[in-house]
Amino acid sequence: VSEAQITARETFAGSALEIDAAGDYVIDTHEAIGGDVRVQLAAGRRLMVVVGGRTIFEVTNDGAQTRIDLGGGSSERLVLGDALKSLLNEFFAQKFDVHVHVTPAGGGTSDPPLPAFQGTQMTDAQLSNTARTKP
Ligand SMILES: [Fe+2]
Repeated sequence: VSEAQITARETFAGSALEIDAAGDYVIDTHEAIGGDVRVQLAAGRRLMVVVGGRTIFEVTNDGAQTRIDLGGGSSERLVLGDALKSLLNEFFAQKFDVHVHVTPAGGGTSDPPLPAFQGTQMTDAQLSNTARTKP
């Protein structure tokens, strides 16, 4: 935002709030000694980013449960990367990398893997209770 285009400005301690002639709104803390920006809401209130009438991002907290919704109206829980990494690494090390197949004498389709690929399944432990998204 150029100086000439700024129509409203509030400054203090190196931070500035500015509105320019186009209606752009700027929170500028890059010259502040601190510079954190906090949006503080009461329990039950929503923080939303809406672009073109569509919700892009929404954060809620009812006082007990925090929800972060990516995309608006999302129902799919996000995967917890570290938990999924552990699950997959356990599967590879304990099941996939060590399995064998019995092949019938004379050829043909082999039997299922041995030991069986059982006991390593994805559960709610690999999914977020906080963040959701949608396709
Ligand atoms: Fe195999």
